[in-house]
Amino acid sequence: MSAVVEIEGLRKTFHTLRRGRQVAVDGFDMVVEAGQVHGFLGPNGSGKTTTLRALLGLVRADEGRMAVLGERSPERLTRVAGRVGAIVESPQFFGNFTAHRTLGLLARAGGVPVARVDEVLAQVGLRGREHDRVRGYSLGMKQRLAVASALLKSPELLILDEPANGLDPAGIREMRDLMRSLADAGVTVLVSSHILAEIQLICDHVTIIARGRLVAAGRVTEVLANFDRHEVRVRADDPARAAELLRAAGLTVVDHPDHLVVGGVDDDTTVSRLLGEQGVWLRELTPLRPDLESVFLELTGTDSHPALPRQAGGPTEAMIDLDVSGVDA
Ligand SMILES: Nc1ncnc2c1ncn2[C@@H]1O[C@H](COP(=O)(O)OP(=O)(O)OP(=O)(O)O)[C@@H](O)[C@H]1O
Ligand SMILES: [Mg+2]
Repeated sequence: MSAVVEIEGLRKTFHTLRRGRQVAVDGFDMVVEAGQVHGFLGPNGSGKTTTLRALLGLVRADEGRMAVLGERSPERLTRVAGRVGAIVESPQFFGNFTAHRTLGLLARAGGVPVARVDEVLAQVGLRGREHDRVRGYSLGMKQRLAVASALLKSPELLILDEPANGLDPAGIREMRDLMRSLADAGVTVLVSSHILAEIQLICDHVTIIARGRLVAAGRVTEVLANFDRHEVRVRADDPARAAELLRAAGLTVVDHPDHLVVGGVDDDTTVSRLLGEQGVWLRELTPLRPDLESVFLELTGTDSHPALPRQAGGPTEAMIDLDVSGVDA
């Protein structure tokens, strides 16, 4: 195995008193290559967190082969733990400590130079608040502190489970810029999210999971291209006549109150030519390219997917480096 993250045939079931045996992840595969900013997408309860926890040895898989930075997980994870930063679900910090003290303790415990603390505080935009107690932090600030803690080790691989949770639009943009700058510096980033517009902006590759199964994976542009139906939005001076002409030419036409959506258009000039030749004039001709959101909805069929309860709470192991995870509140 040579990729940064490799998961093959992962299966994980949970046994609960109320619901019996639950298959959370079912024969799931994922490959993340070095240098990628890789989005891990799926609806609530689809198995993202469970997958990441299994990958990091925080929960035992029933079946499957996994590797991180070329080392089998979980058996040989400790060999690469120092090169991986991970935040899986919201980590808890001592409310009475400041961010500076928290990171200082983590740095010392992890054998990282304490000078690194100021660097990561600057990287996540917490400078100026680092001497305030964590208890007084907003959710977004706690999220940044968590990311800062994962960055202390200058990881080659950063795994973030829903880093945009609790962030406002400006915070989301900063998180996005941070991930991009880390990627530019050569860090491989694996980020789960259901904020699809964000993923589309920052990720070059995606893996989409639904009900514990892989439904799509690859370069974002390629995944989207598979869903391109060559549709255009058309507004014309005589919409009824336009629809009639386009249908007669074998194109699919869906009527909307103030426009038509025309499908199967391989060449955009076809529409203007067909209409213009018959004296129907275009007001608008806009190619409709699929976005990640529409592809995601189609692939994951959210309508038929009942909302599943979120994973039970409790303290979460924030870091792969378990010896520095004792900072739980
Ligand atoms: N510790 C657990 N005990 C029992 N069931 C669990 C446990 N952890 C997860 N599950 C179940 O496994 C399934 C997948 O949950 P998981 O948390 O991995 O989903 P997710 O994709 O991370 O969802 P979200 O987007 O809401 O974070 C869900 O049905 C969940 O209820
Ligand atoms: Mg989750």
